[in-house]
Amino acid sequence: MAQPSMQSSYPGVHSEVRQFIGGRSRRMLIDGKWVEAASGKTLTTYDPATEEPLAEVPAGDKEDVDRAVRAARKALESGAWPRMTPSERGRAIWKLADLIEARTEEFAQLETLDNGKPLAVARVADIPLVVDHFRYYAGWATKVEGATIPVSTPGQRVFTYTRREPVGVVGQIIPWNFPLLMAAWKLGVALACGNTVVLKPAEQTPLSALRLGELLEEAGFPPGVVNIVTGYGETAGAAIASHPDVDKVAFTGSTEVGHLIMQAAGASNLKRVSLELGGKSPNIVFADADLDQAAAGAANAIFFNHGQCCCAGSRLFVEQKVYDKLMPRLIEHSEKIKIGPGMDLTSEMGPLVSSEQFQRVNSFLSAGRKEGAKVATGGGRPKQFDKGYFVAPTVFTDVKPEMKIIREEIFGPVVCAIPFKDPDEVLAAGNDTTYGLAAAVWTRDINKAHRLAENLKAGTVWINCYNMFDAAAPFGGYKQSGFGREMGKAALELYTQIKTVWVDLGAY
Ligand code: NAI
Ligand code: MG
Repeated sequence: MAQPSMQSSYPGVHSEVRQFIGGRSRRMLIDGKWVEAASGKTLTTYDPATEEPLAEVPAGDKEDVDRAVRAARKALESGAWPRMTPSERGRAIWKLADLIEARTEEFAQLETLDNGKPLAVARVADIPLVVDHFRYYAGWATKVEGATIPVSTPGQRVFTYTRREPVGVVGQIIPWNFPLLMAAWKLGVALACGNTVVLKPAEQTPLSALRLGELLEEAGFPPGVVNIVTGYGETAGAAIASHPDVDKVAFTGSTEVGHLIMQAAGASNLKRVSLELGGKSPNIVFADADLDQAAAGAANAIFFNHGQCCCAGSRLFVEQKVYDKLMPRLIEHSEKIKIGPGMDLTSEMGPLVSSEQFQRVNSFLSAGRKEGAKVATGGGRPKQFDKGYFVAPTVFTDVKPEMKIIREEIFGPVVCAIPFKDPDEVLAAGNDTTYGLAAAVWTRDINKAHRLAENLKAGTVWINCYNMFDAAAPFGGYKQSGFGREMGKAALELYTQIKTVWVDLGAY
């Protein structure tokens, strides 16, 4: 059996993190109890900077999902949870935020060890965003309202009102790119609305979700309200999507699996579905933009989180007139990024998450070269590394619209740069994709900016910025980037259902 290897590798590892990885991570949370998989099987997670085994977690499958769904059903319908007032639910969510905040360093290290991202980033971005997200939805718990409806029944007085009730038992399947943040996006709103949850973290990065599970009881959540089942997508994930007693499934991940989730939901019990899938987002720089700002923004758009963002600005459109001015600045930004293990505080970019993703991104690099695109910088693992899933920031030029690298999501630090002549041309090219998650426009012309914002087919449009997020601002896809909006008030739609109540008040 794989033994955790990190103990000796990094000097600054938090003692709680060592203890957790050293044994507690071998159990998952079902009905308020820490349990092994029914099969007794475990799966190994790896430190992507060293390729060494990091931790063991339960390899849950259908039987474990069944148990978790039964626990979630019971917690939904009886016991303390349905009796908690909205205010008490809100306080529990707020307390969870406090408990996480007090352990920011610990959670940041778990993210870095499991996912590879720089510790410096996890500390100031991932974990604070998680805390903020829970606090935002703590506030919503007391504001989930129905309405009174002025109906027109002839000759009869009628009082008609709506109640917004929880959807029920929700299955939440999340990816590995922002492990704890994706858990927060899913859990915060579901709990604020009074649902119960079976959460399945990605098999590559289950540690921070399990650690969060350890804080739920202290925060005030009754047993079974949140169950955390670790395991593979094909087994545990598929069991959630096809479960006849799960009322809703929320998924973030590949478009390919999004199709499977929807089929499984349809074939089982018509459970509600919300999907946040891939992207191939256009990032459009006009000649009248602040080019320094745009170049830095274009680098951030694709290289943040090593390009492992569903909204990554992976197609960079640059107005022909300034192409030769912008590209050297972008390349300079790309080459300045310091690559190294996430636990090294000087690293600005860590390794990709897994061997699978490393191979996948490298196969796109080969495909791009083979189809005739030119590598302006980067193009593979930097020479100083002989292990670890590192890929240098890469810029492709001379890209043709039919190439694989411009059509498919790469999910790595790889951008394709394409010159354009006018707004209509770039609008058509920008929208020429099956995806529609995000887009950005860089210009000083306010009319042009808003015209493009209106006509780009994407769920988020950034103007003179990129990768801006806030718990209050809805996020989600057009086209095959999925449907349903997470964050903000909009997410309440996904986790509530409306009941209409008619009361006969007698004749006039
Ligand atoms: P994936 O879609 O297979 O995995 C995401 C989650 O879905 C994980 O929790 C996984 O266990 C689960 N899953 C996998 N197969 C499942 C199934 N049949 N039924 C239910 N759940 C299932 O993504 P993967 O394989 O890790 O990455 C492949 C590509 O997906 C990436 O290169 C990227 O293009 C895209 N992706 C997009 C993400 C996003 O944020 N939209 C996040 C992660 C990956
Ligand atoms: Mg997969």
